[in-house]
Amino acid sequence: MAVIRSVIRGVGAYLPKRVLTNADLAKIVDTSDDWIVERTGIRERHIAADGEMTSDLGIAAAKKALVRAGIDPVDIDLVICATATPDRTFPATAVRIQQGLGVTKGAAFDVQAVCSGFVYALTIADNFIKSGQFKRAVVVGAETFSRILDWEDRTTCVLFGDGAGAVVLEAQSQIGTREDRGILASRIRSDGRFEDLLYVDGGPSSTKTVGHLRMNGREVFRHAVQKISGVIEETLVMTGYAPDEIDLYVPHQANQRILDGVLRKLGVPAEKIVVTLDRHGNTSAASIPLALNQAFEDHRINEGSLVLMEAMGGGFTWGAVLARW
Ligand code: UT7
Repeated sequence: MAVIRSVIRGVGAYLPKRVLTNADLAKIVDTSDDWIVERTGIRERHIAADGEMTSDLGIAAAKKALVRAGIDPVDIDLVICATATPDRTFPATAVRIQQGLGVTKGAAFDVQAVCSGFVYALTIADNFIKSGQFKRAVVVGAETFSRILDWEDRTTCVLFGDGAGAVVLEAQSQIGTREDRGILASRIRSDGRFEDLLYVDGGPSSTKTVGHLRMNGREVFRHAVQKISGVIEETLVMTGYAPDEIDLYVPHQANQRILDGVLRKLGVPAEKIVVTLDRHGNTSAASIPLALNQAFEDHRINEGSLVLMEAMGGGFTWGAVLARW
């Protein structure tokens, strides 16, 4: 029976020009290139310029994705921005992106699920498209985490970076099997009991300030591999695919040791995973679309590729999306 699927028509990304290396960081806090590389795999990250905002990054990424999709912005009827670092408390960064792209139809809103934001946003867009309410969506992950870091805290400031990525989804009629193009399955989860392990210590309603990121890295790490591999397995069960049948894993980029642990647990070889964290650091909601863009430009993703995206972050939130390009 024919079904409507959300087909990924284009991907784009944008990174701010300024690069901050581990050696640069060693001049600011008591750290070293050796420690950061050994414990995380990160070598450098990009930092937004003064006045360069999350929406600017998101607009640049979305414009590239639209060009690659060959879709005119006037035909877009949904814009979702996953971000934990909005330009303003309100309105949503997505409406600024909507305006910057010249989209005037439909709806635009933000999704706040921190590092899992892009997986959440894709899942939400997919459900709107499958329901028939919207036909073409721009889904953006954009962050300026440099603005919420405590630059005196070496346990967190070395981990994160700024950037944006975007995909364009289009409703297309497909046969209704797991061989279809488009989003085939997704699963999102959260558990607020873990809020205090990764959070920002400010906000309009609590402190009337923006605040800084606080993390108990060791505890987050302890949960990560299990939660991520669990949600991947649940997503694969929905389609009956085995882990080794996936062409490419595009994970949220937090720590190389987490990526290695997930691979080991699933029994997947390292060449099937996209790694960008050495050059981008952890860009929260932007990391998956940035990695998708890299894989697309490297010709590792082609039409028909079976791609598994996954993430875990503050909340805790976590989730996975399986799509055929
Ligand atoms: O995207 C959202 C999800 N976030 C994550 O997935 C992050 C998960 N956690 C992690 O990636 C790791 O826990 C970290 C990379 C944050 C930390 O690595 P770790 O191996 O868990 O190190 P640790 O926190 O156990 O710290 C080990 C030591 C400590 O010193 P003592 O107490 O052993 O003397 C830290 O003070 O390393 C010290 N340390 C540092 N040393 C040099 C912590 N940060 C640094 C640093 N440079 N930047």
